[in-house]
Amino acid sequence: MKILVVNGPNLKLLGMREPSIYGSETLDSILKRLTEHAAAKGVRVDAVQSDHEGDLVTAIGSARGAYDGIVINPAAYTHTSVALRDALSACGVPAVEVHLSNTHKREAFRHASLTVPVCVGQVLGFGGAGYTLALDGLLHYLATQNKEVQK
Ligand code: DQA
Repeated sequence: MKILVVNGPNLKLLGMREPSIYGSETLDSILKRLTEHAAAKGVRVDAVQSDHEGDLVTAIGSARGAYDGIVINPAAYTHTSVALRDALSACGVPAVEVHLSNTHKREAFRHASLTVPVCVGQVLGFGGAGYTLALDGLLHYLATQNKEVQK
C-alpha cells in the first residue's frame, strides 16, 4: 500500500509561520510522525511539497497507477484552484483533504473548498495530528471499498 502526501504553498514554513494558527511543529516533523504511523501499518508514504500550482497538478496526475491514495493539504489553493480540483478528479486516486486549522472559524474566503467535493472526506482543526487522522480515514475507506469490490 502506497500513499502520496501532497502539501501546497507556504507549508514548508510550518513551525515559524503564524504559530498561533498553525502550531509550532515543522512539516518535516509532521511527516516523520506520519511516516512512522503508516509504516507500523505496513503502508509506505511519499511526500511532496510545492508552492507552485502546476507542480502540484503534475504530482497528482502522476499518482494514477502509482499510489493507492492521496492525503492532500492544498493550502491556499484549496480556495482558488480549479486545476487542482480537476487533477484530483481526473487521476481517480481516492484523496482525503487535511487542514491544520479549522478554516470555518477563519476568514470567509477560507470557508469554501474547491477541492473537497472530489475528495473522500476532510479533516480540519487538529493541527499536525490531522495528517495521521486523514491517513487513517483514507485507509479505512480503502479497506471498506476493497471489501465491497470483492463482494
Ligand atoms: C491551511 C488553511 C488555508 O486556508 C491556508 O491558506 C493554508 C493552510 C491549513 O492547513 O490550515 O495555507 O490549508
